[in-house]
Amino acid sequence: MSNNGVPNPIHYWLLSIQIFLFSSSALNARTAHGWGTKHQNPIKGGSHNLGHGSSSSSVYDSYQPYSPIFDVPSFGARGDGVSDDSKAFQVTWSAACAVKNATIKIPSKFRLLISPITLQGPCEPGLVLQIDGMIVAPGGPRMWLKPELLQWINFKNLHDFVIQGRGTINGQGSAWWWITPRILQNQLTNRNSRYDDTMKPTAVRFYSSLNLTIRDIQIQNSPRCHLKFDNCAGVKVTNLSISSPGDSPNTDGIHLQNSQRVEVENSTISCGDDCISIQTGCSDVNIQNIKCGPGHGIRHGA
Ligand SMILES: *[C@@H]1O[C@H](CO)[C@@H](O)[C@H](O)[C@H]1NC(C)=O
Ligand SMILES: *[C@@H]1O[C@H](CO)[C@@H](O)[C@H](O)[C@H]1NC(C)=O
Ligand SMILES: *[C@@H]1O[C@H](CO)[C@@H](O)[C@H](O)[C@H]1NC(C)=O
Ligand SMILES: *[C@@H]1O[C@H](CO)[C@@H](O)[C@H](O)[C@H]1NC(C)=O
Repeated sequence: MSNNGVPNPIHYWLLSIQIFLFSSSALNARTAHGWGTKHQNPIKGGSHNLGHGSSSSSVYDSYQPYSPIFDVPSFGARGDGVSDDSKAFQVTWSAACAVKNATIKIPSKFRLLISPITLQGPCEPGLVLQIDGMIVAPGGPRMWLKPELLQWINFKNLHDFVIQGRGTINGQGSAWWWITPRILQNQLTNRNSRYDDTMKPTAVRFYSSLNLTIRDIQIQNSPRCHLKFDNCAGVKVTNLSISSPGDSPNTDGIHLQNSQRVEVENSTISCGDDCISIQTGCSDVNIQNIKCGPGHGIRHGA
């Protein structure tokens, strides 16, 4: 995340801007509400049908009060922040994924310790992950059980999915921020390849997904980028709070890559690098009412 192209770090700026990025291959007209345009399917090799006619904000209302609840404690999660609850979380996910309009609940005061994990679709539509407690990462590379340095929580092949709640996703990044590549190499045992200090996990990544809403929660202290969307379309981020210390290296707020129809609004981002970084292959990105700082603002282009 070098600073090429953008002059100075900008501290505490309130902005209300709209950005339309048109990649050479995807020139999409945008309607007033951003959801009504017909689009080509951006998911390579996917089979989702993106063609839809009506403009709607229904993604914001998709919390289902009468939806079937999948409470992580009922699936064996301990929630003490010490026991590894990955397995229970994965089992809860699989059960909820198979049911329409299901809600996975992480209760308040629960601390769900999760190793690197992939939560995969396709799932039945209307799935909600309700985080009222905390999802917490293992404390640094020494405890990183799986050889997965790209990301910690990987959401994949989802459509019509919501994350919401009063809770927090905590990446425990302080154990990663200051270590040298040599120390990283030594701590990541049984690895043959070489590691450099760019190889620190993004906290939450969405890959190849459609119609996502991430709202209300806090994402804190990622080892690297906090929230990444790659090969996604129809993304809404609102009322989110992202935070890591201003001097934590490479802790971008939000990364967008190969993603279309993205709205980020009403959110607070304070971190050690770019608040929002818009990389290659993005179009129809709309950013409004973001409080950014500390952090390096919003960057377009790699
Ligand atoms: C799921 O929620 C949608 C939107 O509220 C509703 O139209 C649909 O009937 C629900 N499906 C089921 C199986 O409950
Ligand atoms: C995506 O959202 C639009 C507008 O809310 C809806 O019409 C469409 O069916 C959704 N597609 C999927 C795959 O969820
Ligand atoms: C924003 O999120 C906070 C914390 O979860 C919540 O208390 C508040 O009601 C949310 N605001 C809106 C407008 O949804
Ligand atoms: C964002 O905030 C504005 C102003 O408070 C509000 O009108 C709008 O509904 C909010 N957007 C969402 C998606 O909550």
